[in-house]
Amino acid sequence: MSDTSALDTVAREAARRRTFAIIAHPDAGKTTLTEKLLLKGGAIQLAGAVRAKGNARRTRSDWMKIEQDRGISVATSVMTFERDGMVFNLLDTPGHEDFSEDTYRTLTAVDAAVMVLDAAKGIESQTRKLFEVCRLRDIPIVTFVNKMDREARDPFELIDEIQQTLALDAAPVAWPVGRASTFWGTYDILAKRLMPVDATEEGGIPVSGPDDAKIAELVGEERAVQLYEDILLAEAGLAQFDLVKFREGTLTPVYFGSALRDFGVGHLLEGLADFAPPPGDRAADKRAVAAAEEKLTGFVFKVQANMDPNHRDRVAFVRLCSGRLTKGMRLRQVRTGKQVPVNAPLFFFAKERQVAEEAWPGDVVGIANHGTLRIGDTLTEGEDINFRGVPSFAPEILRHVRLGDPMLAKKLRTALDQLAEEGVVQVFRPLDGSPPVVGVVGQLQLDVLKSRLAVEYGVPAGFDETRWQTMRWISSPKGDRAAIEKWATTNRGDTAADHDGEYVALFGSDWRRKRAEEEFPDLRFDAVREQS
Ligand code: G4P
Repeated sequence: MSDTSALDTVAREAARRRTFAIIAHPDAGKTTLTEKLLLKGGAIQLAGAVRAKGNARRTRSDWMKIEQDRGISVATSVMTFERDGMVFNLLDTPGHEDFSEDTYRTLTAVDAAVMVLDAAKGIESQTRKLFEVCRLRDIPIVTFVNKMDREARDPFELIDEIQQTLALDAAPVAWPVGRASTFWGTYDILAKRLMPVDATEEGGIPVSGPDDAKIAELVGEERAVQLYEDILLAEAGLAQFDLVKFREGTLTPVYFGSALRDFGVGHLLEGLADFAPPPGDRAADKRAVAAAEEKLTGFVFKVQANMDPNHRDRVAFVRLCSGRLTKGMRLRQVRTGKQVPVNAPLFFFAKERQVAEEAWPGDVVGIANHGTLRIGDTLTEGEDINFRGVPSFAPEILRHVRLGDPMLAKKLRTALDQLAEEGVVQVFRPLDGSPPVVGVVGQLQLDVLKSRLAVEYGVPAGFDETRWQTMRWISSPKGDRAAIEKWATTNRGDTAADHDGEYVALFGSDWRRKRAEEEFPDLRFDAVREQS
């Protein structure tokens, strides 16, 4: 293949990929929607597995005992499906609130997000939190108002709520015809067609506009009149869909449907195909990398241990940003300069691992390794660049690990190091040599830690409160290392090193943190650290 045609191929493959995540408040219907999306992509055998808890769920991933015990999804997985020539990579994010850190990292690896709202509830607390993370990177958001088959709030009110609470323009691209028990389907504002709930054909029924007389024949006089008035009002008072604004992350197209009844899901998928951006430019420290570049680049956004109980390997989830990945390539891990062989890159279908032959920008592949690859690592074919933006968040719970058996201290150290590399927990080692402190964002994460320490490492452990409440990474905007060292010397008992050796300040109260900020104006105390 000549250089030009290789480049063309990368550009073509990148252009037909859509890499996205679904953000939702628990119970809004994320699981049901995921299942229906996979069905549309022909991945029928997966559909049961996404939803199922208990036995069937175990067939999907047998990764962690705690998942089985609790029936919750702890691991992030990647589901790939094809439809009409497009390749969709849906990055699943753990639904539980406690795992938001994992979710945040996953969102660094997507190009768009689908925000699912419960039509009766609108924007809920978790929706807003996740949206804020998307906004940090201006990720384009497609809104899916779910559960339209039930009692729902007025669409104008819902759209207004999106605009008000998220400070985001919201442009309806579909409009509900009838409501709740009289819900008939939707009217596609852009393509001017009616889409009945019980449609056997997917394409909908073309009409000339909301005033087409055919509408009343199809949906009945009352619903037709309401639709006509609604559309006039929407045209006059609401934002119109604008591709540029959507891609800039300032406008969200709004779809209405019912995941449970498999209604509106095809329309949403069409929207993703037509409007959501393909993998584009991504900022690295020295330059922006374009997806269509011939040379491969990518970054690790997640590490998962013990996916296969028979092999105690770890799998790094790599989001490809440019070029083409093939089996047997050797990639450069920029952080260390090491060569990483990629002998059996894995695609993660929800059900099983499959050996991939090649992968393209936007795809996510798993690379098995023995702990070399870490979250935030950039991989290239040799170039010395680092992608930015895989964050670590200041944990909200800090605990000392209590060991029943002191003989296990060394084993505990290894276990904590590995789990820290995986991003399961953050580990801070106080400079004064006192016992390590683990940090997590939620209680459930502590339960997971406890279970994994016992099951995978044979280290039964408990947790004790610490005298600290909060922590911050210390940095100097002027690059004044001496100022940081000075802090560490003066506050030795309240300073620790994180997994990468970066200093963190531990505070007994928020008041003390604020005081430190006043007393050390040359230092920054950050609640978020970008890994590199
Ligand atoms: P989540 O992943 O966002 O937490 O939500 P999930 O899909 O599990 O859906 C939460 C509940 O809402 C489920 O009911 C599901 O069946 C229901 N649901 C999802 N989409 C729709 C919809 O379009 N219309 C209606 N009416 N209900 C919907 P459940 O009773 O909690 O669970 P299950 O017993 O059905 O499994």
